[in-house]
Amino acid sequence: MEVVILSGITPLASLAADAIGALLRRKPDAVLGLAAGSSPLPVYEELALRHGRDGLDFSQVRGFALDEYVGLPPGHPASYREVIRREFTERLNISPANVHGPDGAAADIPAACQAYEDAIRAAGGVDLQLLGIGTDGHIGFNEPCSSLASRTRIKTLVEQTRRDNARFFGSPAEVPHHVLTQGLGTILAARHVILLAAGAQKARAVRDLVEGPVAAICPASVLQLHPHATILVDEAAASSLRLADYYRHSFDNKPAWQGL
Ligand code: GLP
Repeated sequence: MEVVILSGITPLASLAADAIGALLRRKPDAVLGLAAGSSPLPVYEELALRHGRDGLDFSQVRGFALDEYVGLPPGHPASYREVIRREFTERLNISPANVHGPDGAAADIPAACQAYEDAIRAAGGVDLQLLGIGTDGHIGFNEPCSSLASRTRIKTLVEQTRRDNARFFGSPAEVPHHVLTQGLGTILAARHVILLAAGAQKARAVRDLVEGPVAAICPASVLQLHPHATILVDEAAASSLRLADYYRHSFDNKPAWQGL
């Protein structure tokens, strides 16, 4: 696990965009794992900038969203399908047909979850997965005590998560109780995982993720088992890390060829 601490979300997003740019140059038809929430938005912003300015090419890229609310009407502005369409797909030269998400409106939820797993596998698996982290340590919508081996399935949100996400809805009561999410096992199968976290409200979750035991009470801690996990945090989100100086020292002295 590599932990990178920088002054703010903008330079962190730029690093994540560097890694995506390097991947696309190496593998133009790469499969990207896309996250909603606010933390990845500056990365999408930076990718849109590089697409327009440098011609970063998404024409062959495939994308798979991490998660989705259950039961929102099609086109609901807070649905993750819409967020990904607005923030990512529409700003790049990626074919909308190549961007997928779990179907939160499916009549047969277990079948839709299995179909989503099958589609990721058929695409060759995720090359680079972007992640945020919830204040309770969730990734995707894998709430505490999710199975560390879980695959895409339905979950019930913790009330704190519903409160945290209420800002994207008209009122807290409108936040669905149920969601579909890639499982922790699904996320672990991505070849490279980049998690972004900013702000003091994430400090405890980041500490548990990086330096706590691997335990389902902090679902993100499963990333300690991933062979290529990059944790990008600002100073506030890093403020509870015991080994912060070591992480800074490692990054400052990193061989230039290494990338993320
Ligand atoms: C939601 C999403 C997560 C995201 C989390 C944190 O619950 N399902 O994928 O990581 O919010 O969001 P934010 O980045 O807005 O703090």
